[in-house]
Amino acid sequence: MADFEYVSKREATEQTGPKPPLDLSHHLSRVTAARKESAIKKFYQYFQIPGIGNLAGGLPNASLFPFDTLEAQIAQPERWTPTPNDPNDPYKDLSQKLEKTSLKNGRDVTSSTHITVPHTSAVKNPMQKIDITSALQYGTAQGYPPLFSFLRQFTREVLHPNVPYAGGPEINLTCGSTDGMAKTLEAFTDVWSEERDWVRERPGMLCEEFAYMNALQAAAPRGVQIVPVAIDLEGMLPYGPGGLEDVLENWDDSKGKRPHLMYTVTIGQNPTSGTLSVKRRKELYEICSKYDVIIIEDDPYWYLQFPSAVGKEAEARNLPTPAPQPIHQFAKKSGYAFIDSLVPSYLNVDYDGRVIRLDTFSKTVAPGCRVGWITAQPAIIERILRITECSTQQPSGFVQSMLSELIMGPQPALAVAEFSKKSKKDQLAFTGWETAGWVRWLAGLRGNYENRMNRMCTQLEEGRFLLKQKTPNRTADADWAVISKTKMFSFDWPRAGMFVWVHMHYDTHPLAGVVPGPKMSELLWVFLTTVPYLVLASPGAVFSPTEEIRAEKGWQYFRLCFAAVDEEEVEKSSKRFAEGIKAFWLIKDKKEMEDIEPEINQDNLAQVADLGMGMAC
Ligand SMILES: Cc1ncc(COP(=O)(O)O)c(C=O)c1O
Repeated sequence: MADFEYVSKREATEQTGPKPPLDLSHHLSRVTAARKESAIKKFYQYFQIPGIGNLAGGLPNASLFPFDTLEAQIAQPERWTPTPNDPNDPYKDLSQKLEKTSLKNGRDVTSSTHITVPHTSAVKNPMQKIDITSALQYGTAQGYPPLFSFLRQFTREVLHPNVPYAGGPEINLTCGSTDGMAKTLEAFTDVWSEERDWVRERPGMLCEEFAYMNALQAAAPRGVQIVPVAIDLEGMLPYGPGGLEDVLENWDDSKGKRPHLMYTVTIGQNPTSGTLSVKRRKELYEICSKYDVIIIEDDPYWYLQFPSAVGKEAEARNLPTPAPQPIHQFAKKSGYAFIDSLVPSYLNVDYDGRVIRLDTFSKTVAPGCRVGWITAQPAIIERILRITECSTQQPSGFVQSMLSELIMGPQPALAVAEFSKKSKKDQLAFTGWETAGWVRWLAGLRGNYENRMNRMCTQLEEGRFLLKQKTPNRTADADWAVISKTKMFSFDWPRAGMFVWVHMHYDTHPLAGVVPGPKMSELLWVFLTTVPYLVLASPGAVFSPTEEIRAEKGWQYFRLCFAAVDEEEVEKSSKRFAEGIKAFWLIKDKKEMEDIEPEINQDNLAQVADLGMGMAC
């Protein structure tokens, strides 16, 4: 054998460039490792050959579908007014005024426009062809080609242009993040049973100390051990007691396998609204890399980052406005000031290829779409594709074609010209004609939710303290009013998301020590649903991943959602929430408190403003 090798120029440069993602197949579940490509689905690519006489596929005939077209009136991307990316921008007032103008190029931006999915489109390229004949037919498990190719390009070039591993990530469409999570669990966990399996084989999943329970409830019945990590305002703590390193380094094998999965919501965390900085991401990622943990980043609230929260919170509390923090300095920009101003995903620090990101249209279009996508290194996406082929196959073609029309829309001549200049390979991954409009829609949504957040927090801020006038002790002070200030609750103005996480200070209640805190919390929750307060908050217990957290801390919190009710109602019901708490703090008699009807009054329920948004969603 020769003691030297010829290396092609391409290979040599590849070795010095970004490294390929790690092989994480040792984490695959037995079932997922054993999956083979669907024998039927692999023929689908041949269906696209122009002029082919397809006698192979067991497809119903498209001319017999009872839908001739799908049509809808839709919003224009400029319907909602964006808020400034940088609240310190001296020109923000002017730019806001300009954004508010209701006529864009002569169009009234509040009016609707019309989209149609035709029965049969003459377009040849399947990446651009949006019609009933293709959308309502069986299709590839990646997703409907036009929507798949738009999202793939959007993900790789606009949302996450800085993924550090060679070749970048791939995507697969899902029926929303809940489905994405279920598929990820299927891919990376074997079902474990106490009666049948060794404890040392029990899989584990890390999560925030307060968490979105639906995701955990998908894991727990598979025997997955849920392992909470301590959090602060941002999110998970990398170091210190209860932090990620502490949990993993001091793992006790007699409790099960050291967790190999981490479920995390890093922007506008549900329920705490925590928003994780890039610095913190890097620290947590290093620890995950050291202990070989796969990161599942569930990020439905990514676009709802609120730059005004820090300054408004400081202003409301008479504190100096903190200096603006530089967000990130990654090499490539998305080309959209709004996207570039957002704290980026874990994918940007994913050198190993251990991040699986879940996106969804639930918060940007509507939850009923049941469409989202998973982003991860290609080998992981390939396994997710295999799972999809034999489970959901694809999200509904009705929704996929409507979303394709909504986002990609009529294609302007300039974009068509650009498209035709691309290589055949790039054409497969490029159809983002209306990307600018989609980004503008997202920016407008952020503006709308940011205003709601500010309205809710302003009301809560005013109601945090119980002020009482007391008689001065000394006659010399008779001309002075003595005001006592009792802090009933505290909260941070959310930096992102849809929720305010309210910490109740039951220890300042006059009956503290007489009525136990957990009981008080239960009674307050019911009290708030009574006339005249009529508000429903989500109790912290609903977001407690373990019995210990529920018993120790869960009862001290409420989650309020500023998204679900009308904007006017956000203010009114937040005010009633604060007034209800004040009235509760004025109860001095144990009997009076215990007399609060322990059951929610069904007659009131219809009038109650649901500040929990379906409680645990
Ligand atoms: C953190 C988080 N993940 C996922 C979901 C559900 O997403 P989807 O509708 O895409 O399944 C929610 C909904 O409230 C959520 O808060």
